[in-house]
Amino acid sequence: MQITNDIKYVGVNDHQIDLFEGQYVVPNGMAYNSYAIMDEKIAVMDTVDRKFTHEWLDNLAKVLGDRKPDYLIVQHMEPDHSANIVSFMNTYPEATIVSSAKAFTMMKNFFGTDFADRRIVVGEGDTLSLGTHTLTFVTAPMVHWPEVIVTYDSTDKVLFSADGFGKFGALDVEEDWACEARRYYFGIVGKYGAQVQALLKKASALDIQTICPLHGPILSDNLGYYLNLYNTWSSYGVESEGIVIAYTSVYGNTKKAIELLAEKLKANGCPKVVVNDLARGDMAECVEDAFRYGKIVLATTTYNADIFPFMKEFINHLTERGFRNKTVGLIENGSWAPQAAKTMKAMLEGCKDITYTDTTVKIMSALNDESKAQLDALAEELTKEYVAQNGETANKNDLTALFNIGYGLYVVTSNDGKKDNGLIVNTVSQVTNTPNRIAVCINKQNYSHHIIKQTGIMNVNCLSVDAPFSVFEAFGFKSGRTVDKFVDTEPLRSDNGLIFLPKYINSFMSLKVEQYVDLDTHGMFICSVTEARVISDKETMTYTYYQNNVKPKPQTEGKKGYVCKVCGYVYEGDELPEDFVCPLCKHGAADFEPIK
Ligand code: FEO
Repeated sequence: MQITNDIKYVGVNDHQIDLFEGQYVVPNGMAYNSYAIMDEKIAVMDTVDRKFTHEWLDNLAKVLGDRKPDYLIVQHMEPDHSANIVSFMNTYPEATIVSSAKAFTMMKNFFGTDFADRRIVVGEGDTLSLGTHTLTFVTAPMVHWPEVIVTYDSTDKVLFSADGFGKFGALDVEEDWACEARRYYFGIVGKYGAQVQALLKKASALDIQTICPLHGPILSDNLGYYLNLYNTWSSYGVESEGIVIAYTSVYGNTKKAIELLAEKLKANGCPKVVVNDLARGDMAECVEDAFRYGKIVLATTTYNADIFPFMKEFINHLTERGFRNKTVGLIENGSWAPQAAKTMKAMLEGCKDITYTDTTVKIMSALNDESKAQLDALAEELTKEYVAQNGETANKNDLTALFNIGYGLYVVTSNDGKKDNGLIVNTVSQVTNTPNRIAVCINKQNYSHHIIKQTGIMNVNCLSVDAPFSVFEAFGFKSGRTVDKFVDTEPLRSDNGLIFLPKYINSFMSLKVEQYVDLDTHGMFICSVTEARVISDKETMTYTYYQNNVKPKPQTEGKKGYVCKVCGYVYEGDELPEDFVCPLCKHGAADFEPIK
């Protein structure tokens, strides 16, 4: 096989192999690739597995004709590529080995010699001229062993990529590249995502037209496709949309549960549901699927006060390979003391960026109404986005979407002529910049609305993340008509005479009302900026930050009813009246949620 005018294929196909690397089934065999670069000097790229010594040397001899090779370039010392180094060196006594220092140490260990008088040691960026072709060596440690180098031929723009971009399967069998390349990648190189990313970064600086790996086909068309997949795999990204269910079942009850779950997931619009029986499927295929999709459900039984062995093996494969960046749902089955969910979670503890579903399904031997309801809830959680993306199934009137608008939190200060007043709002936005216009919306029930309507001025104080809950209590839940919110405060004033907060703000703006828009319950003041000062470089307090970090958790323990999401006020009762207004923060029924 000719790769370019000067580069010839001399590798072999292996259909005798039962398990590659002693563990991976390879129904379509394996290829051990080797190449000869024919120039003034001849370089041979790697050898092949020990079973194919003569076939490989014959292939090489055919390509060489009456010439002899000058160099054997050893990119990787794993025996599927290095087993015939000694045979080669005996056959061609004038040849020199070119390889990394670590590889020569390994040669000594494997063969008892490091070819001290017949070698060239190369490292990052070193070059070797063959005449017309210049080879540049690039180190690629841990892709897949520490001694690995890859080689770039800048003349023909060929990257010899060692194990990178390899796949299971012999070259005389036609099959999809991605499926067996993915299984190969996650099985063999998956742990070393960071190292593959480093290699891809180096490769991005090269003009590559052909990739010659040590396994699998030579890649020359549509290289972006292969590079993108490698980038996704090595960065632990989500390659395909869908959900994997990986399960074990002893007597069929867990299997029934996952079959029911799979039906529900499909019914809810999940584009692909992959179900893997870990006891019967190919483990490497199951591992590959776990990395390919963004969501996975693990279902197993409690067994010997642990989990079922195949699930244990599966999770170990995942954690060894840096499993991360997934949504994980758990289903446990146990007849007297189920603890599989807890055990699986503990096994995944070191994995980064894992989001667990709120629902864990607990089956006590067989499905019942309770566990079926949990399966429903799990399916709903996992398919929420698919249901919402589909025009047929989406709830198109889900006003909780509005909660996802990002807000900052501000204290608006004003003065009624007798005393200073302050109010918390989240409705400040800059609406134009030529000229600068700031819109501030205030509920008409608030005293501040009344004051600003009359005076036409206000200060907007931008709260920073260090503001404690007491600030929100002081300015949020009381009326300035009845209390002096600045009593005992030494006032700091801006040029418009209004107060600005002495702490817990990162800036303030003095505003002059230019327009007023009546919005029924609220008034919108559209203002120009008369003064603006930056007080600190602390981050602005957002509504989300307040909810997650500042607001105390509401005291709902043992209570039935609804809780205000804004201030935590608890309404006790079976039904919340539609026109209910929170007595503390004045937000309406839409801002309440049932106590769980
Ligand atoms: Fe194909 Fe890592 O040997």
